[in-house]
Amino acid sequence: MILEYSACVILLIQLVLIHESRGSLFSDECLRHGLKNYYDPTTDSCWIVQATPLTYDRTTLQCNHMPGYDGHLAFPKTLNHSWIIWTKLVAYNSWIGLQHFGSPATVSNKSEWYWVYPDGRKEGAADLWINGYPTAGGGECAYSYGNNVNSFYNVPCTSVPAKFVCQYDSSTAHHETTLEHKCKQQNQWFWWEADKSCLLLDTVRRWIEFSKLLCTHIPGYRGHPVFPKTIEKIHAIGALRDGIKVDSIGTGMERDKNMTSGKVGLFWRRFDGYKESFNIKAILPGQTISLDAPGADYTFIEGDLISDWWDGTAMTLCEYEETLRYAPTLLDIQCASLSLPHLYYQGSCYVRQETFVTYDVAKKSCTHIDGFNGRLAVLHNSELVRLMYFTLTLPSGGYDSTYVGLERLNTTGAAGTGYYWILGNGQTLPVTDFTPFLGGHPTGTSCTLLYNYYLTTYECTYERPFICEYVEPTKGTHFQVNANTANMKALPQFIIQVYDDLSLQESCGYQCTKEPGCHSVVYNENTRNCLLQSVNSNMLYVKSTNIISAPGYAWYDRY
Ligand SMILES: *[C@@H]1O[C@H](CO)[C@@H](O)[C@H](O)[C@H]1NC(C)=O
Ligand SMILES: *[C@@H]1O[C@H](CO)[C@@H](O)[C@H](O)[C@H]1NC(C)=O
Ligand SMILES: *[C@@H]1O[C@H](CO)[C@@H](O)[C@H](O)[C@H]1NC(C)=O
Ligand SMILES: *[C@@H]1O[C@H](CO)[C@@H](O)[C@H](O)[C@H]1NC(C)=O
Repeated sequence: MILEYSACVILLIQLVLIHESRGSLFSDECLRHGLKNYYDPTTDSCWIVQATPLTYDRTTLQCNHMPGYDGHLAFPKTLNHSWIIWTKLVAYNSWIGLQHFGSPATVSNKSEWYWVYPDGRKEGAADLWINGYPTAGGGECAYSYGNNVNSFYNVPCTSVPAKFVCQYDSSTAHHETTLEHKCKQQNQWFWWEADKSCLLLDTVRRWIEFSKLLCTHIPGYRGHPVFPKTIEKIHAIGALRDGIKVDSIGTGMERDKNMTSGKVGLFWRRFDGYKESFNIKAILPGQTISLDAPGADYTFIEGDLISDWWDGTAMTLCEYEETLRYAPTLLDIQCASLSLPHLYYQGSCYVRQETFVTYDVAKKSCTHIDGFNGRLAVLHNSELVRLMYFTLTLPSGGYDSTYVGLERLNTTGAAGTGYYWILGNGQTLPVTDFTPFLGGHPTGTSCTLLYNYYLTTYECTYERPFICEYVEPTKGTHFQVNANTANMKALPQFIIQVYDDLSLQESCGYQCTKEPGCHSVVYNENTRNCLLQSVNSNMLYVKSTNIISAPGYAWYDRY
């Protein structure tokens, strides 16, 4: 009884201690961030100077010093705040979160100036302008002047870059997730609170069809090209883009084929290929132009709008969402940490190395990652060959031919025969699919170069860069149901084998794992019919015309 009582008291004391320490934790935390900071006990807020000069647009997403708290450009609403900026932070002539909304001709109207949060929320402004401000023609953003008599003045938002003051209120404390924490630790990664997502801009231009495969920066979270779901988000993305590099950004908004208008049939393309539908009018009520072309497959962010995008290259803004968690593998993590161009795709990590060496040297140089059967890349179909070109060669501006793991091992037959993919550990796979070869190849020489998106054979003494592949031990043993191809199967030329009475979908999958060329299965639970297919639903040449109706069948991709 006594024991229980004292345990209870200890627990109570601990609870009190934890509770008591909260307020002081915030001030301690405040003083740990940034080089110039100030904790204001009167308003329980933390003020941090960011000394790197930026233009106004670029500052708005940068107030993320304190993980677990929502920051914004400072709102010096009182003379005390002005005094903090002036004396404690020595940050006069720095951006604060005050902006004009209205016609540029009416900037001098004080009622049109608001304190603005990064998510676009606005609050009415206090009247602490320096005498004579805001001046007509002075600009639509505000600098803190920072003395204790009066406070701010207006300047053009695109003025010379300036330092800025961020403010964190202890009342904005929220449970911080792992993704948020990771995101806020990195320069140039941005947290979008409304969607609980982390945004990363990749400025290399890529074709959207391929760039979506490269949203693998944060192992443990599935990525996709950004879903700009609100006008505020579009504005923030536009500002981020213009600060880093003015160029087009592709989005994860795609369009179904054969629509009657450009504004219908739009959907968000998820990482797994699944389509999430939505109504464009609910997101962009003001957008009346620029989504006009039913034939365009993709969209990109242009100014304040989303516009049609046909085939073409653009920068990629990858978005990682808290809800799209998965358990990453060790290879996945190691692949993401490489600085060389790389792609983690269907159980393999492909790495391009731009060193010119002979085939024998290349073959021994796949040592970027330990323990995953490092080998020269095995690219045994057109899809993989195109994938390497569009994800690793073209965007990196690398040399147009690279060694891959294909050799002529048996030279007794005709010139175009005897070629094998070198799988490693003494295993080989004979070439059966010649569609990825350039016309006239293979020629009978011993080694193989990936030339643009074709395979070509040459002497092994040429010095060329190379592409390595590291393989998951479980590659090819998993199956993933694909919702987009429900009640569908591939055309007959893509069917490798048919089984009439396999009692389980698992048995159908097992048959597929025994066939190197099997990339998916379709299975009908009622008839127990199982078809092994040489394509999967991600394969880029599998357009809808290669898929036909098959009621009752479920489609599983192998990976
Ligand atoms: C201004 O700051 C002083 C201490 O520096 C404090 O005593 C006073 O209450 C503050 N006034 C307001 C309005 O916050
Ligand atoms: C200033 O702006 C407010 C809010 O938009 C408006 O109601 C007011 O008429 C404007 N004043 C002048 C003098 O234009
Ligand atoms: C779209 O229309 C074209 C021409 O009318 C047709 O050939 C094609 O099959 C249609 N595609 C789809 C997915 O319905
Ligand atoms: C090598 O190729 C020849 C001609 O195609 C064939 O007869 C022979 O069996 C092959 N040798 C091996 C070891 O596969």
